[in-house]
Amino acid sequence: MKFFVDTADIAEIRDLAATGLLDGVTTNPTLVAKSGRDFFEVLKDICAVVTGPVSAEVTATDTDGMIKEGEKLARIADNITIKLPMTWDGLKACRHFSSKNIMTNVTLCFSAPQALLAAKAGATFVSPFVGRLDDIGEVGMKLIDDICTIYKQYDALETQVLVASVRNLQHITDAAKLGAHVATIPPKVLKEMIHHPLTDKGLATFLEDWKKTGQKIA
Ligand code: E4P
Repeated sequence: MKFFVDTADIAEIRDLAATGLLDGVTTNPTLVAKSGRDFFEVLKDICAVVTGPVSAEVTATDTDGMIKEGEKLARIADNITIKLPMTWDGLKACRHFSSKNIMTNVTLCFSAPQALLAAKAGATFVSPFVGRLDDIGEVGMKLIDDICTIYKQYDALETQVLVASVRNLQHITDAAKLGAHVATIPPKVLKEMIHHPLTDKGLATFLEDWKKTGQKIA
């Protein structure tokens, strides 16, 4: 499973990119607003450090407007992925970009039929929001299970399932068990992935015991 980070915070992105484990970035208008920065400047900075897909969301609501904005965003770098809302206009714009081999991410997916539409529109990625479904008392991961199962039935559907609205480590484990292609993860949760108290305790013991030997490796 690929790991994208869900943020527009360039310091966090640089930090995570340095691990060599980051496969891409997703942004949305809320995350850009939170960064307090100019959208185009942020995207240029992100594309300078990340070679994988970087999702940039349009804000127009009609197909022509989305195409105009998407074309401008796509000129920033080859790895810009045009993020489009799950609306008929968004799907028409998705079809336009996929016919031009520009990567797309159809966002705000909350049902399997919506995911089927995104795939038929040629989306590179579809983003089902698991956390927001959990928030309203549904089981977000059930949607990932449904979409992965459906996509696997048809070789012609090449859209990748990008698990979004990830809130915790269990979401990541479950998404990987289901074979989702990508999870976009907030920086805080991504950093939590490394932690286990027994790892910390074990390492401390090994280092203490090594000290007792009085030896050096280099
Ligand atoms: C996905 O691309 C979205 O940016 C994101 O995952 C939404 O997450 P949230 O529900 O925590 O806002």
